[in-house]
Amino acid sequence: MRLHRILLACGMALSVNLALAAEVEVLHYWTSGGEAKSAAELKKIISGKGHTWKDFAVAGGGGDNAMTVLKSRVVSGNPPAAAQIKGPAIQEWAQEGVLANLDEVAKAEKWDTLLPGVVANVMKYKGAYVAAPVNVHRVNWVWANPEVLKKAGVAAMPTSYDEFFAAADKIKKAGFIAVAHGGQNWQDFTTFESVVLGVGGAKFYQDALVKLDPKAIDSATMKKSFETFRKIKGYTDSAAPGRDWNLATAMVMQGKAGFQFMGDWAKGEFIAAGKKPGKDFLCAAAPGTANAFTFNVDSFAMFKLKDAGAQQAQAALAAAIMSPDFQEVFNLNKGSIPVRLNMSMAKFDDCAKLSSKDFVATAKNGGLVPSVAHGMAIAPATEGAIKDLVSQFWNDDKISVDDGVKRLLAAARAKP
Ligand code: BGC
Repeated sequence: MRLHRILLACGMALSVNLALAAEVEVLHYWTSGGEAKSAAELKKIISGKGHTWKDFAVAGGGGDNAMTVLKSRVVSGNPPAAAQIKGPAIQEWAQEGVLANLDEVAKAEKWDTLLPGVVANVMKYKGAYVAAPVNVHRVNWVWANPEVLKKAGVAAMPTSYDEFFAAADKIKKAGFIAVAHGGQNWQDFTTFESVVLGVGGAKFYQDALVKLDPKAIDSATMKKSFETFRKIKGYTDSAAPGRDWNLATAMVMQGKAGFQFMGDWAKGEFIAAGKKPGKDFLCAAAPGTANAFTFNVDSFAMFKLKDAGAQQAQAALAAAIMSPDFQEVFNLNKGSIPVRLNMSMAKFDDCAKLSSKDFVATAKNGGLVPSVAHGMAIAPATEGAIKDLVSQFWNDDKISVDDGVKRLLAAARAKP
C-alpha cells in the first residue's frame, strides 16, 4: 500500500515536471567572447530548471540587427519566448500588446524592494512589470593598455581632455594607435555621449541629449563637444570604419592601441581572455566624467505565448534572472554590476567596485544619466536619427562643427 502511494506520488511529480518543461527561445545579441560566456550562464539556469534553451543569437554589437529580426518575427505572429529589449523600447513593445505581464513573479519575489526605482520604472508598463533586468552597465569608461602607456611615457589615466590629448599624442609618437575604435553608429555615439558628458557635465547631458532642449543644443558647450569628438577621430586608425567593438578591445588587449572608449562589456572581453584589471588593462571614467554615470540596463521582456509550459518557463526565467546567484555569476562575466540592490561585491574586481560606488553616489548627486547610445533615454526613432547624424559628422570632415550642431537641432525639433 505504502509502495503504491510512493509510486503514485513519483508518477504525479514526473507528470507535473513533464507538463512544465518547455522550450524557451531566447533572442539576444551576446556573441563576443565575454558576452557568450554570460549568455551561457543564462542557458545554465534555464536548463537547470528542466527547460530547454533554444538559442536565438543575432550578432551585431548594440543590438540593432537583433531588433530588426525581432520585429519581423513578432509581425509574423511567431515571437520568441524572451528577448533582450531595454529602455523606452520596452514601452513601445508593451503598447503593441504583445508582452506578458510578469507581476506575479515580481510580487512574489519582491522586485519593488530589490530594484532601484529608476530601473523598476523602465521595466514597468502602466504599473505592471513586463521585463526583468539583469545588470547595470556603465557606458562612460575609457580602457587602456598599461604597457602601451608606459612605453609612451604616460604616467596616469587622463582625467580631462587636455590630459587625454597629451597622452594620445605621446602614444601616437611612440608608434601605437592612440584610440581603438570601431566605426559603427552605436560606437560613434558611445564616444560622443561620453564626450558631451565630459565637456558639459550631467545637467548639460540631460538637457541636450535626453530632453533634446534646443537651447542646450544650440550652445558653445555643444560646439566644444563636437570639436572634441572630431579631435578624437584624429587618433583612430584608417581601418576603424565598420570594425566590431570587440575587435577594437582586442587591439588594446594586444598592445596595438592605447585607449578605447566603451561601456564595461569591454571588461567582460578582457576577463574572458584571462586578463587582470589593474595589471593587464586599466579602467577609468571617461575624461571629465568621474562624478557622472551613464547607465545601460540589459533586460529581458517575455512575449505573450499560449502554451502553459512556455508560460511557466518564462516565469522561471524571470525569477532566475533576479536571483542573487545569477546576478553574481552573470555580472562577473559580463563586466557589469548586479542590478539587484544590496548584493555583496566581494567577488568583483576594482572596476566593478568603482562602478557600484559611483552608481550609488551619482544616484544621489544627480550625476546618474541614461545612455542614449544604448537605448535607455529616448524613443528609438529619434535615437536612430541623432545617431546617424553624429556618425555622418564623424565620417565626413567637410561637415563643420556649426553644421553638426544645426543637424542635431533639426533632429531634436523633428522628434515626435
Ligand atoms: C548591451 C550590452 C552589449 C553591448 C555590445 C550594449 O548595448 O547593453 O549588453 O554587450 O551592447 O553588444
